Amino acid sequence: MPRGACDRYTGSAGFAGSMLTLAIVAQRTERTRAGKTLDRVLSKAGVGSRTEARLWIAERRVEVNGRVVADPERWIDPERDKVAFDGKPLRAVRKIYLLVHKPKGYLTTYRDPQGRKTVYDLLPQRDRYLFPVGRLDLDTSGLLVMTNDSAFAEALTNPESEVPKTYLVKASKHLTDEQLQQLRTGVTLKDGPTRPALVTRLRDSGGRSAFEITITEGRNRQVRRMVEAQGAKVLKLVRVAIGGLGIGDLPVGATRPLLAEEVRRLVSSGRRPSRST
Ligand code: URA
Repeated sequence: MPRGACDRYTGSAGFAGSMLTLAIVAQRTERTRAGKTLDRVLSKAGVGSRTEARLWIAERRVEVNGRVVADPERWIDPERDKVAFDGKPLRAVRKIYLLVHKPKGYLTTYRDPQGRKTVYDLLPQRDRYLFPVGRLDLDTSGLLVMTNDSAFAEALTNPESEVPKTYLVKASKHLTDEQLQQLRTGVTLKDGPTRPALVTRLRDSGGRSAFEITITEGRNRQVRRMVEAQGAKVLKLVRVAIGGLGIGDLPVGATRPLLAEEVRRLVSSGRRPSRST
């Protein structure tokens, strides 16, 4: 990995990282029989971007089964091939898991052609090999996890995992009990009916309703669209939890490494954690 790249993250997720790495190796065995090109294997392992990986391969810093390979398109069989970077086996690459308290007005993309702020501006370094686990809209704030562990991200975002995500919502109108019940049982959106959700009314004031909703899907603008289907707009949307992990008292705009226990808890919050990790 880039020298010192992970030293910036002093969380204690290293143990979880290595456990996950082992699990990921097993998962790859099951799910990626077809393999990947060498540059992709390096970038998927969180070493760096594909462009960087191609550079390092050209610099002859990458070995496959003990021999230098200078071809980034070399097909790698994850079941058999042992890839090393700067002499270190790839599976030793440290996984990074960051909790980010995304403020409103930040994009979850790496770069914005219009020059708007992105969550990468919040990171200790603008590490583009970290990526967000799922997205939050520009105007949504709250809990965002960023990682270089693609299997972990996949385990959390795969719709079949049904990982619960909890949001605080302020609607532009008073929502009746029937409307909240509708959110619970399911709303028909243009991409199909939503799964059952947990909804708790928090307060009504000034002709507006505030409630908490937990959904197990992650469709584009899902909560906003569910509320719009009730004839109201979302004035404020904050993600406060994913699975058993809450945003806690992390200040808006701050980041912190996840603890090993938190990584484990997140992974096991899905319906089918054992297949996903
Ligand atoms: N639902 C939304 O509508 N927006 C988000 O950012 C997250 C969930």
